[in-house]
Amino acid sequence: MMRTYAMALGGAGLLLSASVVAAFAAGTEKPTLPPDPPKFEAQGQVDYVSQADIFEFKALPDYHEPDWVTKNFVDAGKLPPVKDRLPKEPLVYKKGNMVDGLGVYGDTLRHVIGGRPEGWNYIGGQTQGWGGIDIGLSECLTRSGPLFEIKPSELQPLPNLAKSWEWSKDGHQLTMHLVEGAKWSDGVPFTSEDVMFYWNDNVNDPNVTPLNGAKPGTFGEGTTLEAKDDYTIVWTFKQPFAKQYLYQMAYGTFCPGPAHILKPQHPKYSKNTYDQYKNAFPPEYMNIPTMGAWVPVEYRPDDIIVMRRNPYYWKVDEAGNQLPYLNEMHYKLSTWADRDVQAVAGSGDFSNLEQPESFVEALKRSANPAAPARLEFGPRIIGYSLYPNLSANGWGEPDERGQAVRELNRNEHFRKAITEAVDRQRLGESLVKGPFTTIYPGGLYSGTAYYDKASTAYYPFNLESAKAELAEAGLKDTDGDGIVNFPAGTAGGKNVEVTLLVNGDYQTDKSLGDGIVAMMEPLGIRVILNTVDGKQRDALQQAGKFDWMVFRNQEEMTSVVQKTVNLAPVGPKTSWFHRAGKDDQLDLLPFEQELVDVVNKFINSGDGDEQRELMKQYQKLYTENVYGIGLTQYPGALIINKRFANVPKGTPINLFNWAEDSVIRERMYVPTDKQGNYELHAQTLPGAPGSAGPIK
Ligand code: GLA
Ligand code: CA
Repeated sequence: MMRTYAMALGGAGLLLSASVVAAFAAGTEKPTLPPDPPKFEAQGQVDYVSQADIFEFKALPDYHEPDWVTKNFVDAGKLPPVKDRLPKEPLVYKKGNMVDGLGVYGDTLRHVIGGRPEGWNYIGGQTQGWGGIDIGLSECLTRSGPLFEIKPSELQPLPNLAKSWEWSKDGHQLTMHLVEGAKWSDGVPFTSEDVMFYWNDNVNDPNVTPLNGAKPGTFGEGTTLEAKDDYTIVWTFKQPFAKQYLYQMAYGTFCPGPAHILKPQHPKYSKNTYDQYKNAFPPEYMNIPTMGAWVPVEYRPDDIIVMRRNPYYWKVDEAGNQLPYLNEMHYKLSTWADRDVQAVAGSGDFSNLEQPESFVEALKRSANPAAPARLEFGPRIIGYSLYPNLSANGWGEPDERGQAVRELNRNEHFRKAITEAVDRQRLGESLVKGPFTTIYPGGLYSGTAYYDKASTAYYPFNLESAKAELAEAGLKDTDGDGIVNFPAGTAGGKNVEVTLLVNGDYQTDKSLGDGIVAMMEPLGIRVILNTVDGKQRDALQQAGKFDWMVFRNQEEMTSVVQKTVNLAPVGPKTSWFHRAGKDDQLDLLPFEQELVDVVNKFINSGDGDEQRELMKQYQKLYTENVYGIGLTQYPGALIINKRFANVPKGTPINLFNWAEDSVIRERMYVPTDKQGNYELHAQTLPGAPGSAGPIK
């Protein structure tokens, strides 16, 4: 089956509820339908397949590995034979789904990233610097990235560390079978103990603060998990057949860490504080055991992280060749913009071209047939929103001014004023001219499966109407300096000043921040930028320390089924911009309660038609009430050096997960005649956990 992406799905007439229309005050404008996005030929074509076409778990008659591993390690008695390092039934990738067929060993995938590693305690809440580095180290119960090529009618998360599962008759229990005999990269067996350590002592320990990881509510309130034996775990859910949670068991939220290494450092089992636990594995700590295809063996600050092949990796190809094909992986520590530049120039191998400021140059340079990299645009699934902090319950401990802003954020007229003061056409063009960016009212993106134009309320740019909304919100410029003032008695009746949290690692975030400052000024709101690096941005967001933030949306907006719990405050900490205060209570607005109900129904529904209807309701509630303020959406392009084979056709840069997951890097290879000389630690393997580097 061959299909191109659905770009904008056309829509019928505007169907807004009478109650909403009646609520419009004098001088304010009613919402309309969003305009259709400019035509943009997405090049990405996807060949849809079934899960069984991609891989299965089974034993093969014999197994193979790079010759140097056999010669230097197995024959020398340093490593057991490959068949003993693999599980009973490894994950076997099928040849028919590899666009270039079975691969050969060798070469390096050179990534460039703008983030920096905090350390290796991923489940304890540390970032490794993003750009897919953690994706390559962690393996999760299920897998979502490659779902972009699964037939939509067969969509469900792919098995991974959980190789199969079944539901009890009443649907409340889900029994999962872990891959039997799979091992961490240091040879220690992976078992339910790793799973239970993650669940009991990380997810459910309120003192452990995961970054993007699982939080209470990620798997539904009241959900429990138990180990029956080394390879069997049993989930119990309050709702029957809550299949949606299988998606949360993929990247980000259920990727266990090595219990045999982490547990002894956890405060429950040591004298460590939680801070010491989190920081027990700094970037200098080498050879952290992974279940992923590569293991970090060298770190040079602000320079590079080098990873070598995991000799215990538990996936093979159909001929029994242990994966990965690529011996080494680099993470050059630079900037995100440099990732684009290097990928196009050929000194890097991979980029998600996602900052429109680089589009024209990247397109021009890769149009040359001699260019080292290919560039393929996908659908419009990158987008940004402005999120107002809706917690008036003490989350982030705002001062008097901050609290007054939270109250304003919760005022519908205030949010409408903001949205109508944003000139999205101009904002998009400030990033890049041409048919790339399009008007994004907020909510689900127009290029995605659940989008419904008729359910989307768009408040066009209209400064007069915006000002009328601001007056409705009770704001006036009482001292005539052009900035509206808080009402007397609130925050000293001072000018309304709002801080805007911006991730300074990305030019696009900064450009959008500048645009917001400029567009709020004529409205009479002073916006003060709080531009910090990505690590600090994440910390401030998690701590609730912001009035507004510019935010690049995640998979909940593109796929809806992945990270669904982030779509609304269904749990105390699941929303990006509205969380519980110290007393663990949320202060939901009435329409938010409706959003929560819709999202919970979506999660608990097994019916595709019903789910589509629910997402129409979601979109309507979201956009009519201006829940988040959409800014812009545009397509992204995957840039990959031409020497790489087995890059699936039409891989989107972020649909069910980032492209680093979707391309299935463990299956990519470089044909012998194209192999470069990039390995920094040729013929070595990861050393013992905590030891200095790789071993020969
Ligand atoms: C960062 C980058 C993305 C992607 C992700 C992967 O956020 O901006 O393009 O590489 O990391 O986690
Ligand atoms: Ca004033």
